[in-house]
Amino acid sequence: MSAERTKVTVGVCGGIAAYKSVELVRLLQDTGYDPHVVMTKAAEEFVRPLTFAAISGHKVITTLWGEDAGSDSEEEASSIEHINEAQTTKLLIVAPATADILAKFAHGLADDFLSTMYLATTAPVIVAPAMNVVMWEHPATRANVETLRARGVKVIEPGSGYLACGMVGGGRLAEPATIVMAVVETLSKGSVGLRADEAAYGSPGLEAAEQELDFAGETVLVTAGGTREAIDPVRFIGNRSSGRMGYAVAAAARRRGARVILITAPTDLACPAGVEVVQVVSAGEMRDSVMQRLREATIVVMAAAVSDYRVRSVAAQKIKRESARAVLLELEATEDILREVVAQRVVGTIVVGFAAETQDALANGRAKLAGKGVDAVVVNDVSVEGIGFDSEKNAGSFLTRDGAVELPVMSKATMAERILDEVAKLRG
Ligand SMILES: Cc1cc2nc3c(=O)[nH]c(=O)nc-3n(C[C@H](O)[C@H](O)[C@H](O)COP(=O)(O)O)c2cc1C
Repeated sequence: MSAERTKVTVGVCGGIAAYKSVELVRLLQDTGYDPHVVMTKAAEEFVRPLTFAAISGHKVITTLWGEDAGSDSEEEASSIEHINEAQTTKLLIVAPATADILAKFAHGLADDFLSTMYLATTAPVIVAPAMNVVMWEHPATRANVETLRARGVKVIEPGSGYLACGMVGGGRLAEPATIVMAVVETLSKGSVGLRADEAAYGSPGLEAAEQELDFAGETVLVTAGGTREAIDPVRFIGNRSSGRMGYAVAAAARRRGARVILITAPTDLACPAGVEVVQVVSAGEMRDSVMQRLREATIVVMAAAVSDYRVRSVAAQKIKRESARAVLLELEATEDILREVVAQRVVGTIVVGFAAETQDALANGRAKLAGKGVDAVVVNDVSVEGIGFDSEKNAGSFLTRDGAVELPVMSKATMAERILDEVAKLRG
């Protein structure tokens, strides 16, 4: 398994709901995919390509004919772009899919990049339609949708509610999180989204997706975020953990086919799609949730920054400034969740701890490895500028009893993949 992220192509069409695709692209990224965006001419009337380029980090394809249509690399730029995009993507998701694009797909028209790419790809295809309710219920649209379904295209039914046109009824684009869930499911199972002919004869797109499912059958329990210990009803002792590392591990494990339970302290992050999420606040709550779910797990990755201490006596009312010149907080140790997990795990469950250190990172990591009896420790020096807490990037070492694997500076999404690569080796 390489640390490279799975490429998915997001087709954006000309409907009011095009703005929701911005959130979709961001969520796909958070879930560990590498989204590339193709826009129709009409879509550009609703959202600027620059918005998608900024979020995805890739050029946005808007035309069949443009000089720079397509790729980031010179090698790809010299190829025929729609064929290149069609062959290199692992999945095509069109959201919002207009009545127009559904008709083009159903009838094999190929007069722009998206419709041409659709014909040229063997990857699974998902469409998420959005339109006025009368357009959605029109016999022509119904027939086109049924044609696409019969060919194995997955259709994410639009929801009901108030539409942009002022009418009430079906036709509202599914929520971005629902769409991401369908992407995850499709790439995990590889059973939907195939055209009928490919379902019979196999698909290169499916094969590529299946190669990455090396955690299928595993249940990965991940902890994330920084716990909060109450001082009084409005204040707490917290830490600088953003939760990004744990969320990245959860998203990567899900994408590689695992069932994932994410036990998370408060963060600002969107929950990765397809993951069971348990929200907790304090170290005590995290301990209880982890112990409750431990027996389900075959792999445990403890990436949360759990407070080592809590306030012994939490004030029932807000502590007033004038009530004392100095306030002394007496702290008591919280439970050692990692040690308890190791003691109570089912034999064979792999346990990976994290050690965020500010000095002697390697030595402290080794001490944690030996002292807690875990299978591996990911150690990082959080005093280094630009990595670790509150940062998009991380670096460190993956320590086991057999040695250390260096993890140089990289994005947390890539680091999550590298960590899972090492866990896969531990599993033997
Ligand atoms: C303001 C406005 C909103 C529109 N919203 C939708 C829509 O939600 N769904 C749809 O199918 N068409 C919608 N249309 C019509 C499409 O933009 C039109 O059919 C266009 O040709 C679609 O092109 P495309 O499929 O290449 O993106 C809308 C048009 C306008 C002017």
